[in-house]
Amino acid sequence: MMQLTDYSVAYGQSTIIDGMNLTLNKNEIIAILGRNGMGKTTLMKSLIGMIPSQGGKVTLEDTEITPMKSYQRVGAGLGFVPQGRMIFSTMTVEENIETGLTSTGKKEIPSDLYSIFPVLDEMKHRRGGNLSGGQQQQLAIARALASNPSVLLLDEPTEGIQPSIIKDMARTLKQIRTQRGLSILVSEQVLSFALDVADRILVIEKGKIVLDVPVEEADHETISKYLSV
Ligand SMILES: Nc1ncnc2c1ncn2[C@@H]1O[C@H](COP(=O)(O)OP(=O)(O)OP(=O)(O)O)[C@@H](O)[C@H]1O
Ligand SMILES: [Mg+2]
Repeated sequence: MMQLTDYSVAYGQSTIIDGMNLTLNKNEIIAILGRNGMGKTTLMKSLIGMIPSQGGKVTLEDTEITPMKSYQRVGAGLGFVPQGRMIFSTMTVEENIETGLTSTGKKEIPSDLYSIFPVLDEMKHRRGGNLSGGQQQQLAIARALASNPSVLLLDEPTEGIQPSIIKDMARTLKQIRTQRGLSILVSEQVLSFALDVADRILVIEKGKIVLDVPVEEADHETISKYLSV
């Protein structure tokens, strides 16, 4: 579905993602774990085209997207939920979701979105800024799904969300994967969530993948060591 080959991203002289190779299969959920500053956001932002890459390539369903601009990547099938959600606080819930339609040329919000997130249906006309953190996260995910992506990128979706809601989020993401047949790449620091949601767990350190295991084989202690400072 999505493939990274020798993929590198740098800010000036400092290389953040260093020759990464990664294959995300259809219907697969991969969690990328890494401590603060290990390059999760840099990777996500570069994949969606907000930061240029320095080397290597990315293909999405056999199309090379590396030279594309963000809106073209969205058109090619990438959806992005940024760290901190970045919803538009003065716009209504409905308007926020509609911003996700822009690159598709469609006017209608996909009908399944409100059934996946019933709370957004109830709060359609409320301003985004008046939603709780967990509701805003649902809104950010709904906005990304509005363009019917085949690959969904999420950058630390559990940040600032309370534990009970984190459980729901894992369940919802797996439901979306099954319903829509999409693939998900999610960056995280919360190990329990990653173990809950993912089929495969990766750990990055200093720009390289240092661990890559199916979730059934993930050793919690080893991973926790990577995540602790
Ligand atoms: N615009 C920038 N210019 C230069 N360096 C940057 C820039 N943005 C981030 N960095 C650096 O790149 C490294 C990776 O940052 P990044 O935000 O990708 O980490 P992260 O894994 O997302 O961290 P967190 O878990 O705190 O969100 C850090 O050392 C950071 O200081
Ligand atoms: Mg980050």
